[in-house]
Amino acid sequence: MAQLLDPSRIIQTGFGFWSSKVLLTAVKLGVFTELGEATMTGEELGGALGLHPRGIWDFFDTLVALGFLQRDGDGRPARYANSEETRVFLDKNSPEYVGGILEMCNDRLYRFWNDLEPALKTGKPQTEVKHSQKPVFEELYSDLPRLEQFMGAMTGISRANFAALAEKFDFSKYKTLCDVGGATGLLSVLVAKRHTHMRCTSFDLPEVCAVADRAIGREGMSDRVKTVGGNFFTDSLPKADVVTMGMVLHDWNLDKKKHLIKLAYDALPQNGAFIAVENIIDDNRRENVFGLLMSLNMLIEFGDAFDFSGADFQSWTREAGFRKCEVMHLNGPCSAAIAYK
Ligand SMILES: C[S@@+](CC[C@H](N)C(=O)[O-])C[C@H]1O[C@@H](n2cnc3c(N)ncnc32)[C@H](O)[C@@H]1O
Repeated sequence: MAQLLDPSRIIQTGFGFWSSKVLLTAVKLGVFTELGEATMTGEELGGALGLHPRGIWDFFDTLVALGFLQRDGDGRPARYANSEETRVFLDKNSPEYVGGILEMCNDRLYRFWNDLEPALKTGKPQTEVKHSQKPVFEELYSDLPRLEQFMGAMTGISRANFAALAEKFDFSKYKTLCDVGGATGLLSVLVAKRHTHMRCTSFDLPEVCAVADRAIGREGMSDRVKTVGGNFFTDSLPKADVVTMGMVLHDWNLDKKKHLIKLAYDALPQNGAFIAVENIIDDNRRENVFGLLMSLNMLIEFGDAFDFSGADFQSWTREAGFRKCEVMHLNGPCSAAIAYK
């Protein structure tokens, strides 16, 4: 009956960009980094961030209401502090900082999602490539700050998933791993730290390997984590017992996905494992909202690229010759789709 229905979920979702933009702006301005372990009055925090007094209270109290700041007291003398989660994940000085992905959301994706409608009508990307016509990664990496921002974004979105993979997957049967499209080498570093018998190779475009070498060195892991520069559309992969791809398959159309799966197959020994870490969509395509939104994001970023379900992964890997397949949940909307040769 109509009178029992409640429109508030519709309204809340429609206005979702308000809360999203408050969080993204707080990250961009460095609210959580400025606070760190401290407590500050609204005027102190606003002053440190260079904010006009008009918005200070509405902005900080919205962050309190959203659960991203804590406030002790009321009115002008009240003191603001990070929540437990923002202290760990959104203070840039924390080793577990994940805000890089939110910085990229603010600076790139927020604008591009305004063009979801033309993306749906044309099937074409709506990013920087709309104007330059260059391939996505070439365009993204043509500017060093943008390359670094993209690497920070990948670290932010992937850290918890890679840590869960290092914890949950049984690496005891294997000795070597090659992470394809390894970006800063984070997956390799986390696996090598957790499993001291493992030797890992992070494979990516040469310009990315330079960034990865520095990150691996900072982690003190250069003895067991190496980088190899190459292009997975023209080069073969280094041989390894386990081949991983974190959010790589979803960047490409079906033909290219199949090329990458074949490449992984060829790099593995018998019984080797191929692991795709992705926001795997449930087979009925009804539940993993983030996975489905990620696939729309791939339309906006690349046009013909898309995210996929465990059943899709199984059919493509079977076709390539893999003998069995499983999906292992990692963290939040992310899972590992695993195929065994
Ligand atoms: C979406 S990012 C994923 C990064 C990381 N695996 C993660 O999950 O956080 C895709 C990665 O593929 C790499 N890549 C793109 N085209 C490539 C190519 N032709 N050959 C090798 N790597 C490539 C990019 O440089 C980037 O690091």
